[in-house]
Amino acid sequence: MKKLIIINGPNLNLLGVREPEIYGSLSFTDFLDLLQKKHSNLQIDYFQSNIEGEIIDKLHEVGFSFDGIILNAAAYTHTSVGVGDAVKAIKTPVVEVHISNTFSRESFRHQSYISPHAKGVIIGFGLQSYELAIESLLK
Ligand code: DQA
Repeated sequence: MKKLIIINGPNLNLLGVREPEIYGSLSFTDFLDLLQKKHSNLQIDYFQSNIEGEIIDKLHEVGFSFDGIILNAAAYTHTSVGVGDAVKAIKTPVVEVHISNTFSRESFRHQSYISPHAKGVIIGFGLQSYELAIESLLK
């Protein structure tokens, strides 16, 4: 069974509550439940943290044994050399995802420290971005 993990960064624990006009009104745990049921042939782990170093630690932990990582580093995407370096340092392919279209938002969201080291980037399809990332890792 393939082992994937979704890693979500800061403030994504508030999905469903936070700015629903941008991020939708479904909580991530409800969405994850649907995703896991739909892909019952896969192990889909989940980790969320609001702390930069914890995200880096998790990337190190899974980055040499899992088959794929789906990473929404949220605001750290635009600020964290450390998370970008961690993605570069590990062996497991990382797909960078964003729920909103970051390029149609403020210019500081156009910069990503993750993208140069990611296998690919999926941006702007709402929670479906995560599903597209899973599909891309299975191909
Ligand atoms: C986000 C976009 C980021 O710019 C923002 O800081 C987030 C969420 C997204 O999924 O659309 O927290 O990564």
